[in-house]
Amino acid sequence: MADAPRMTETDTPVHVSEALPSWMRTPARLLSEEEMAVHERELRRESRRDRLLNSPIRHELAQDGEMSDEERILNDWMSEDVHAFRVVREWVRRWTGEAASVTRPILIISGPTGSGKTLSAAWAIAEVGGRYVRFPEVIQDHRAFSRKESMVAQERQRDEWRSKYGIRGFLVLDELGIEEEEDRDDARSALNEFFNVRQRWDQRTLVLTNKTNAELLERFQTGQYGVRTRSRINRLLITAERNEDQLSVDLKSGDMRRSSKRGGDR
Ligand SMILES: Nc1ncnc2c1ncn2[C@@H]1O[C@H](COP(=O)(O)OP(=O)(O)OP(=O)(O)O)[C@@H](O)[C@H]1O
Ligand SMILES: [Mg+2]
Repeated sequence: MADAPRMTETDTPVHVSEALPSWMRTPARLLSEEEMAVHERELRRESRRDRLLNSPIRHELAQDGEMSDEERILNDWMSEDVHAFRVVREWVRRWTGEAASVTRPILIISGPTGSGKTLSAAWAIAEVGGRYVRFPEVIQDHRAFSRKESMVAQERQRDEWRSKYGIRGFLVLDELGIEEEEDRDDARSALNEFFNVRQRWDQRTLVLTNKTNAELLERFQTGQYGVRTRSRINRLLITAERNEDQLSVDLKSGDMRRSSKRGGDR
């Protein structure tokens, strides 16, 4: 057998593979498919945990009961019997799955309290990452945004608004419709400005509300919410593709919340 090439002062360098550290040349052993699958599962679990725990949506999840909502999401123990979950999962799959198609970017879900809306949104944030905001916060930000006096201050507020609400990617707007009567005007313009910066097809928006589709329609028809806002979102609503008056999906499920406590203090 010929000797492997050796480096001498005058000669060419040693064979490349010999210049590599031994662990790069010959792996101790190859990972089995099963071990790789375990590794993949661990990675997925870690990323899902990071996305969920770094989102303020975790403060909206129940912590007691047989298992916390967080555990339910992270262990993939979501019940498929819950209408809200089936709708959200199907929608997320449409734009993330292998057969991802071009699909309208806004989905509104209407459901009574405890019907699984926020938990399903939290599952989606764990899956794909995204921002979470409650409508009262949007109204508050909008007040600050519209009350600055100097042009410079207004410009700065506008930029802040854009960078918070105009992000590409996924955003959950929770609790649309819980605003008080006294916030009516602010709510109308806040919602308008919110969708003003969410018009692109790569800005996925999930809106959750206790108002039914009929109640939402009425709000737009009576001017409680802006007519222009409606015409803007109608083009982007997945539910309105075939029927213009289908602003939201009305959930069939009832209240699943027993006496569970929320995670955050508010
Ligand atoms: N897919 C699911 N699988 C198992 N349990 C669920 C599921 N969805 C919801 N639940 C249970 O129902 C509880 C209430 O769900 P959630 O907080 O999402 O309701 P909601 O529709 O956001 O209510 P609200 O309108 O009051 O905010 C959860 O804490 C959880 O215990
Ligand atoms: Mg909720």
